Amino acid sequence: MTLEALKDPVLDLLNNSSHSVTERLNEVCAYLQKSVSYYDWVGFYFADFPTKTLHLKAFAGEPTDHVAIPFGKGICGQVAVSNANFVVPDVTAQDNYISCSVHVKSEIVVPLFKDGKNVGQIDIDSHYIEAFSEKDEDFLEWVNQQVAKILISDTQGNLSF
Ligand code: SME
Repeated sequence: MTLEALKDPVLDLLNNSSHSVTERLNEVCAYLQKSVSYYDWVGFYFADFPTKTLHLKAFAGEPTDHVAIPFGKGICGQVAVSNANFVVPDVTAQDNYISCSVHVKSEIVVPLFKDGKNVGQIDIDSHYIEAFSEKDEDFLEWVNQQVAKILISDTQGNLSF
């Protein structure tokens, strides 16, 4: 299945307003993880700006101990401050990396912007080396743009789920 073919089902999941935002995010994680052979763990982290930490709000795959990650730490924490996609072809080559599982060989983290602000990210781990390409970056940027549309933020930019 091509990534393009996943877009309509993702939209259907995100637009299901009878489910909470957290439920919909979990459903998207589960859908992506089961649909793409090399997406072994899929999660959304969101920023808490007062404490400068990321918090895991939804995921599919093995549970992780890393449910809170300080800005700057690991691939996720670096993306919280860089505002840029981070594609890691080989996790063993990274010094500032937080290992969630010995099976993970490569990783991609794409920031999620709401009203121009980097409020979170999608993080995908793969058990395959060099799993991710520009196609994944483009697709995950699109996913995050769609997620941003269903996030509710107050005047301070705080999100509610
Ligand atoms: N590997 C990430 C931590 C999150 S786990 O992949 C679920 C990192 O280095 O930030």
